[in-house]
Amino acid sequence: MCGIIGYNGYRNAQPVILDGLKRLEYRGYDSAGIGIINKKLQVHKQVGDISRLIDSIPSFTGTIGIGHTRWATHGKVTETNAHPQLNTSKTIAIVHNGIIDNFLELKNHLQQKGYVFQSQTDSEIIAHLIDEHYHKDFQDAILKTIRQLRGSYAIVAISQKDPDTIIAARNESPLVIGIGDNENLVASDIPALLKYTNRVIYLDDGEICILKKKSVTILDSAGTQKQKETHLVTWDVRDAEKAGYPHFMLKEIHEQPHALTQGLVGRISEINRTVSFHEKIERLLRKPIQKIHLIACGTSFYACYIGKYLFEQLTNIPVQIDLASEYRYFSPKQPDAFVIAVTQSGETLDTLGALRTAKKTGCQTLVITNVIGSTATRIANAYLLTQSGPEIGVAATKTFTSQILMLYLLALKIASNQQTISSDDLYHTLIELRELPREVRQILHQTEEIKTLAHNISNSTSLFYIGRGINYPLALEGALKIKEISYIHAEGFAAGELKHGPFALLSPETPVIAIATHDKIFDKMLANIGEIKAR
Ligand code: M6R
Repeated sequence: MCGIIGYNGYRNAQPVILDGLKRLEYRGYDSAGIGIINKKLQVHKQVGDISRLIDSIPSFTGTIGIGHTRWATHGKVTETNAHPQLNTSKTIAIVHNGIIDNFLELKNHLQQKGYVFQSQTDSEIIAHLIDEHYHKDFQDAILKTIRQLRGSYAIVAISQKDPDTIIAARNESPLVIGIGDNENLVASDIPALLKYTNRVIYLDDGEICILKKKSVTILDSAGTQKQKETHLVTWDVRDAEKAGYPHFMLKEIHEQPHALTQGLVGRISEINRTVSFHEKIERLLRKPIQKIHLIACGTSFYACYIGKYLFEQLTNIPVQIDLASEYRYFSPKQPDAFVIAVTQSGETLDTLGALRTAKKTGCQTLVITNVIGSTATRIANAYLLTQSGPEIGVAATKTFTSQILMLYLLALKIASNQQTISSDDLYHTLIELRELPREVRQILHQTEEIKTLAHNISNSTSLFYIGRGINYPLALEGALKIKEISYIHAEGFAAGELKHGPFALLSPETPVIAIATHDKIFDKMLANIGEIKAR
């Protein structure tokens, strides 16, 4: 994952790009670089995080430029491998996120033509290919280049020969255009643009964008101009700042009550005893639903797993859950399934692939996402926004709880449509849901206790999470978070399963976190905890 930004406008580009890179640092930061044109192309690259780039960069002037923060895939972490990557005469600069599958074949072709490579990256071929095709027309050179590329890419390019133009191209890697007044931007993620504009256009696969100071033109891969919708992002630039927290993950954990409140606003009415969504979703839900397929990756998949329990308890509709990466290739074709994809970003490749497969099969599709205008919202028949605010922490926290809330609301809505929930039960549930943000806030007030517990387990090398029922997928998510953030080996188990093998891994040094809530299997959970203590 790399971060990309481009700026073309009236301001000095250097601070805009450096600020954008700072906001994209969460995408990876083993090295970074910037390229600015002021008659001549000026480039500076640095190994390390963005602050090292900022500390070492000379002051470049110029109102057009590009920047990149790298997380190495092809080639070591070196200044040469950092982006921008250049052509031999150092007149063309490109930044790239993605992987070019046919890069060896293209590299051989370019080497035979005399091109000499400086870096070990797959991205450098893009600069040389543009150079090869660049006779008079920058746009034509990019179009010819992307027709040769196979794989995933978000590319942003500038050229000294066309010093007023940025060209961006995308295939399977997100790129968003920010529309300003007398200035336009392009970036891999919205937070990098928010300081300058909240009007955005999402590029689709195969499209290229010609970004001038005062205009933005989108073309398809054949070079034909396209009209695209401009979306208004409701996020504020302050949403993308740490607001006094030491890091974004902690900020986002504490944003859960607010995110949950936002998710409920306008969707539940205790007085009317209703759950309601916008008309497109309402129409989808009015159709008879025989079976539901929930698909996602990672944390979003665990939200789906919880969703399965919720749907099945409330509606009696059979629910199948699938990892999107498996569904794409192995799921039986079931056109009568109602497919709900869950993806915070709306850009996860496997989830997009699964959604496309479901649509091709003839299924009705709904996506639950946090990002308006993301690719998933444009594939599915309808979309439901979690309204959690931007997720910058990478480790999903507030977006996970918001996803579960959305699944719960959908389950309640379908149950109410099918009358598998009584009006009174719905009423009481809605009252409880209204209390949810406050209750989450109460848990967050226990920071000191949580810190002490975390400290006690921080030196463990292995850890178990256990739960039953709806708390089983929660245990899986807990284990995922421990692995991802603490680099401690962690496993989530259904509590009743420990005796079927995993007990072998338990030692007195293994912390076991049991999620024991007052539900119908609370006693069984206590028995499981007793078994663990006995061992
Ligand atoms: O954007 P998505 O929800 O589609 O992302 C899917 C996973 O990559 C994501 O949930 C990941 O597992 C979490 N960020 C981990 O904390």
